[in-house]
Amino acid sequence: MTEQYQPIRVWSRKIRFFHWLNLLCILLLTVIGLMLLNGKLLGLSVDGKILLKTFHVITGYVFALNLVLRIVLGFLGKGYERWGQTLPFNQGYRQELSAFRKKQHLAYKGHNPLGKLMVAALLFFMSVQMITGLVLAGTDIYYPPFGSYVAAYIAEDSNKLDEIKPYSKVNINELAYQEMRSLRKPVITVHIYSFYTLMVLIIFHILGVVIAERREKTALVSAMINGYKYLPGDKQDK
Ligand code: HEM
Repeated sequence: MTEQYQPIRVWSRKIRFFHWLNLLCILLLTVIGLMLLNGKLLGLSVDGKILLKTFHVITGYVFALNLVLRIVLGFLGKGYERWGQTLPFNQGYRQELSAFRKKQHLAYKGHNPLGKLMVAALLFFMSVQMITGLVLAGTDIYYPPFGSYVAAYIAEDSNKLDEIKPYSKVNINELAYQEMRSLRKPVITVHIYSFYTLMVLIIFHILGVVIAERREKTALVSAMINGYKYLPGDKQDK
């Protein structure tokens, strides 16, 4: 017997825009980040490093703005944009998870319960990357939002802040500089380990999408392009 599949609009234009811009930013940030991590191997000059860091930070601003707008949309948006529909913290989540294990629903309008866990983990580590990245941008190349405060802190003469440049010792108070570098150390460690975690999560996210598509058959990859999932009438969640 053939089942009746109904098209249901799940992902709004805003969600799809966020998803694909986020993917593009993470790709760029990862490629540049890996080049920075392997700077010695690639024989990067100081100027080359500064240029790559500047590209990384500018891409980081786009990534951060996109992420902040998505977080706000979770509170102010409609339907599947809202956190109640996206994260695994709603009241009925345990029942949802047990129904998922027993395969009671064969198709989900939004994310399935494991998908919600994955979204929470991805958003968490992306936020960690954003916060640590913004701190590093300030302490490394003196870029906003913290760069001017860092420069003022490490300057020998605070009237000549424009002399403070990445990798230069002009107008630097060595003691304050070393203090700033040691405060910065745990931040770069978190940025790198959170990056590794994110890479593993992204692999599982892609695997999860492939497995869910084979199990649920709702066209969930194209849904992130055109917004529509196709659900069997009687075997879907509410
Ligand atoms: C998903 C997002 C991100 C990923 C995957 C990522 C990845 C990386 C990686 C792998 C490095 C190399 C670490 C090293 O050189 O030791 C790095 C460095 C850096 N990142 Fe990110 N990053 C992300 C977001 C951001 C954001 C949002 C910003 C700021 C706006 C930022 C700013 C920096 C800076 C300034 C460095 C240079 C630190 C240094 O080498 O001293 N990152 N990032």
